[in-house]
Amino acid sequence: MGKCYPTVSEEYKKAIDKAKRKLRGLIAEKNCAPLMLRLAWHSAGTYDVKTKTGGPFGTMKQPAELAHGANNGLDIAVRLLEPIKEQFPILSYADFYQLAGVVAVEVTGGPDVPFHPGREDKPAPPPEGRLPDAGKGSDHLRDVFGKTMGLSDQDIVALSGGHTLGRAHKERSGFEGPWTPNPLIFDNSYFTELLSGEKEGLLQLPTDKALLSDPVFRPLVDKYAADEDAFFADYALAHQRLSELGFAEA
Ligand code: HEM
Repeated sequence: MGKCYPTVSEEYKKAIDKAKRKLRGLIAEKNCAPLMLRLAWHSAGTYDVKTKTGGPFGTMKQPAELAHGANNGLDIAVRLLEPIKEQFPILSYADFYQLAGVVAVEVTGGPDVPFHPGREDKPAPPPEGRLPDAGKGSDHLRDVFGKTMGLSDQDIVALSGGHTLGRAHKERSGFEGPWTPNPLIFDNSYFTELLSGEKEGLLQLPTDKALLSDPVFRPLVDKYAADEDAFFADYALAHQRLSELGFAEA
């Protein structure tokens, strides 16, 4: 689908560039790239293509959305970001949170995800229950990413590679551990680990394992495990699409 990006002022563009630098510093200081990527994804992943509600529009800062079960722990991300956000009152939270996600991928060695500014903050958070349930399988992933968000099968597999960063925390999600031995590096090890089977100390969620048994998802897992450049190219496009759900629609 074509996009029609809004024009933003020179002052706004400058604030984006400066905020980007500050975000690089914060993420390096706090080692919080994984949490920033999860914040950006959980902000955007509530988009419903049919009702055009939810999506990357800055509502995550509201206590009501932070209280959704799926968002446990994201209050920390919001709190870490606030001192930087205060320096850039011109920026929308919507742009700022998505920028944090893009910077998290960049500074951990991942691909450059194209970023277009101009999202406006929405007043009301989406209803609870739109984000995926880690205990389910391929049909559920297609319902959430495909039917609700409007993304493709390829986007599902590429975006699942976001689990190359970070870890699960028992007290937040009930799951525990990282997906790879190097959870602060963005590479294709999520896919190589997925293919090499379960290992002591590493996590594979049911939704991760679903990628192995599905006839459309599996060839993409094999491809991304064998070819990091192919993963990075598809990931950058999928992340950009996710970050622009409901934004700049032509
Ligand atoms: C496919 C459906 C998905 C499910 C069911 C899922 C589920 C989860 C769960 C249960 C956690 C652990 C949270 C915690 O305990 O701290 C987690 C963490 C994480 N997820 Fe996902 N996720 C999905 C897709 C994605 C996508 C699309 C991205 C980004 C592109 C992503 C990025 C992350 C990151 C970076 C973390 C680590 C956060 C940290 O270290 O604090 N996930 N995910």
